[in-house]
Amino acid sequence: MKNCHKNIIILASGNGTNAVNIINHFSNKNTLSDSNLSNISIKALVCNNRDAPVLNKVKNINKDIKLYCIPFSKTAERASFEEELAGIVDEYKIDYIILAGFMKILSDDFVLKNLNKIINIHPSLLPAFKGKNAIKDAFDYGVKITGVTIHFVIPAIDSGPIILQEPVIIEENDTVELLEEKIHKLEHKMYIKVIELVSCEKIKIVDNKVKIFK
Ligand code: GAR
Repeated sequence: MKNCHKNIIILASGNGTNAVNIINHFSNKNTLSDSNLSNISIKALVCNNRDAPVLNKVKNINKDIKLYCIPFSKTAERASFEEELAGIVDEYKIDYIILAGFMKILSDDFVLKNLNKIINIHPSLLPAFKGKNAIKDAFDYGVKITGVTIHFVIPAIDSGPIILQEPVIIEENDTVELLEEKIHKLEHKMYIKVIELVSCEKIKIVDNKVKIFK
């Protein structure tokens, strides 16, 4: 394994179970499967929502992680959010921007300036069920298999080269709440794996497709 030395920032908007899981995992250097993984450093969390539970949760886990709350609602305000975000990315020499339940759309300009650096998690098998309510949309549609996709972000909603994708079977007795639980559990496992893969430079983008190598 290469030395995996990477600086990471997390963007979140709400509950933050993914953010909390990632921070817990990489803050606890004793439980990492390889000592090189201890070079993965979560520098900051940026939230766009003052009332998001993620803010309090993260505050209580790791005091070294800087918390930024930069609310914005209108597209016009997004420019100042992104300006501040770009400053944070520069200040901490951030290698990867991890979207973990970040429910806002970044501008094409910001995405293009940070191409192959922004990663998003989405609770469906993309390109099916894009948007904010993917779990419920898949459930209501009646699909028998849905899942989780983690992908690089390009200037189009819930699109971009797929890094990892795994299925979740919708059982006869599942409710939307049960499905949500299953998806979140899988998301937590997958995001750790993806952060390790990208940080340890085990992926390459060839012809717009992500190749994973050992
Ligand atoms: C997650 O299920 C994530 O995949 C989804 O929001 C949830 C956030 O949960 N993201 C999207 O729908 C993005 N289009 P969390 O705040 O508990 O991590």
